[in-house]
Formats: sequence, structure tokens, C-alpha cells
Amino acid sequence: MAETATTEHETADARGSYKLQALRVLSEVTTSLAGEHDIEALLGRFLGTMMRLAGATAGAVRVAASGGAHLRLVAAVGLPPEVSERERLVDLDCGACGIAMREGEAREIRGLEPCFARTGLPYFRDCCSMVVVPLRYQGRILGTYNLFLATPGTIPEEVALLFGSIGEHLGMALENARLERENLRMTLTRERQLMANEVHDSLAQTLAYIKMRLAVAQESLAAGERDRTGKYLGDIRQALDTAYGDLRELLGQFRSRMDPLGLVPALERLPETFADRTGIALQFANEVPDLALTADQEVQVYHIVQEALANVTRHSGARRARLALRERGDEIEVTVEDDGLGFFAPGGPPDEHPQRARHLGIGIMRERAQRLGGRIETANLPQGGARVQLVFPRRAAPAAA
Ligand SMILES: Nc1ncnc2c1ncn2[C@@H]1O[C@H](COP(=O)(O)OP(=O)(O)O)[C@@H](O)[C@H]1O
Ligand SMILES: [Mg+2]
Repeated sequence: MAETATTEHETADARGSYKLQALRVLSEVTTSLAGEHDIEALLGRFLGTMMRLAGATAGAVRVAASGGAHLRLVAAVGLPPEVSERERLVDLDCGACGIAMREGEAREIRGLEPCFARTGLPYFRDCCSMVVVPLRYQGRILGTYNLFLATPGTIPEEVALLFGSIGEHLGMALENARLERENLRMTLTRERQLMANEVHDSLAQTLAYIKMRLAVAQESLAAGERDRTGKYLGDIRQALDTAYGDLRELLGQFRSRMDPLGLVPALERLPETFADRTGIALQFANEVPDLALTADQEVQVYHIVQEALANVTRHSGARRARLALRERGDEIEVTVEDDGLGFFAPGGPPDEHPQRARHLGIGIMRERAQRLGGRIETANLPQGGARVQLVFPRRAAPAAA
């Protein structure tokens, strides 16, 4: 870099302080990112610092919107209101910004006539130059910092490099936040679908049955057949009891939120609440200290355990139950055992029993297991009692499930 003798010292000084500031920002960016959930707010917070680094009088942060076709303004400082309003959403390819961003490094654009021509806003005619710091991640443009300068000044090479580095970090954070949102959306959609299935399979079926029974009861009443009417009314009463039970169970499931700390703490808390509620002593053995599952996997496992335990309460007549988390090679095994009656006909194939047709709890458990890339195995224990086991691959990529 060429430097004249008179300004050499000053420039070196300025550069040194620039560098220091930029390094400070970089370290602030990297430490803030870990705990930050609202990434747009974070970008806004850094705007002032970025402006100071560039010596800017105004600045704006934009993030890619509409699948990358536009840039949306998320924060602005020092811009006249009509400019912020006009710049709320701009085409990615509208001009100099787009070009600078595609080139992928922080750069200064002198003279903003194209922006003036596009918008007719005098601010751009009078503004001298603009620094564009692209936020990119893996070659994709995710956003930009626009820093407006009253007097043009070359950004020192080191600062440009640091801008690039900051841009990359923030770009990565933006991308992570997007993936997280997408993941959450998918999990929510799937969870709603499963809830709808559960309502359909239990409550809706029972209500449909009540409706049919009511129709025949009315017919037999009209025909003056008192006995048959009485029988149908009895059926209806029984079905209403079932519907009420279904509803309570469904509400219980929908309300049961997993411990925000995750699956293992949630399972650790189960024995106490389970014993209080049911009088059945539950033991939890965790043999996988480093169980690292995704949030979606954890939710599936938790619901499966809950249904298995609900069945122990409803059907087993057990005094004791055991919940275990084990590892077998590449597979995780979650076992719920009890010392009760066992599934129908000991030794028989419990899954095919005709009486199971209306009971869908285990069916839904299987569906959840499939999403984990795994399976549910049921068996009667030789010493009596039932065992339900979820087996799924530790490192499954359940994305396609
Ligand atoms: N722990 C258990 N002990 C004995 N029988 C069980 C146990 N778990 C499930 N079952 C039997 O399997 C059937 C199907 O269970 P499920 O599909 O959850 O339906 P539901 O609980 O609505 O009856 C139950 O009706 C019950 O007969
Ligand atoms: Mg059940």
C-alpha cells in the first residue's frame, strides 16, 4: 500500500485502531452468536459498530427474502425516513449492491447515481459513497450491511478482510437460524398431523359409532320396540363413556410438554410423578450417558414412552414397571416392562389379536418409531408381564421420515 511520508504515521495509527475495533467486533459477533435467537435483532445491534468501523454516517442491514429474489430491510440508522420506506424491499439485482455482493467481499461504491436514478431520492444523489459488506454463507448471499459515507475513503485492506470475516460469521448465523426455523416448522407440522390422526383414530371413531347407534335407536323407538331401543341406548351410554375417556387421554397427551431440558431429564422425572399418579413403582435405568438426539427424535421417544406407560396403567394390573435406555451396537433401545398380566394369550402373537383392531395406541407408537427409522417390538415376559421396546438407529437421519 502506497503511503505518503506526512500521513504515514497517522494512517498506521488509524489502521491500528481500526484493526483493534474490528477484532473486538469479530470477537463480539462470535460470542453473541452462540446465545442469540433473534438473529435479525443481533444484526441490527451490530449496525452501529459496523458504521463506526467504516466511518459511516448512515447504515442499513438487509436480509434475503422471497427465496433470495429480494433484500428486506431489517434495520436502518441515520437514513431519512423516506429512504428507509423506499428501501424496505429491493430487488437483489437492483444495482451496485448486488454486484458487490456477488463478488463476495466488502467493497466501496463511489457515487450512488444508479440508486438515485432508481429511486429519485435526493439522498442518493448527495450521498458520496457506500460500503457494502455482504453476508454470505457457502456461496449464498444471505444479506448485506450498507454503510453510507459522507466522504469517500478507501477501506484499509485489513478492515475489508475483517469485514469479510464478520460478514461470513453473521451469514452463517443467518443460515443456522433459517434451518432452525425450518426444522421447527417441520416438526410442528408433523406433530399436528399425528395429533389429528390420534383424534381421528380414537374420538372420531367413537363419535361415529354413537351417531350410528342413535339412528337405529330412533328407528326402533319409532317402531315401538322398547327392548331394542333400551339396548341401543345402553350402547350409546357406554360409547359416551369411552369417548369421554378418549378425550381425557388425548387432552393429557396434548398438554404433556416435554421437559425443556430434554428427553433424559424428562424421563428422570417420570418415576416420581408416575408412582404418585398410578401407584405403580417405576424404575428408570439409563445406560446411555451420552445420548445425543435431535429435538424431533426426543419428542418421538418421549411420546412412545408415554403411551407405553399409559398402557401399563390401563391394561397391565402391574405393581412394578421398568423403563430402560440402552445401547446395542449402533442402535438405541428404549424398553418399558411391567410385572402385570401381559398381552392377551401369553405366548401368542399379541399384535394380531382381533380385539386390538380398535386400539391404536400401539399403532401410533409404530408410526412414531418409523419416523425414527426404527421399530416397536412387543412381547410377554417369561416371568409374566409385558414388554414394549423401541429400537432405532443412533445416527439415523430421520429427515425423510
Ligand atoms: N402393558 C400392557 N399389559 C397388558 N396388555 C397391554 C399392555 N399394553 C397394551 N396392552 C394390550 O394391547 C392393547 C392395545 O393397546 P393400544 O394399542 O395402546 O390401545 P388401547 O390402549 O387404546 O387399548 C390394549 O388394549 C391391551 O389389551
Ligand atoms: Mg393405549
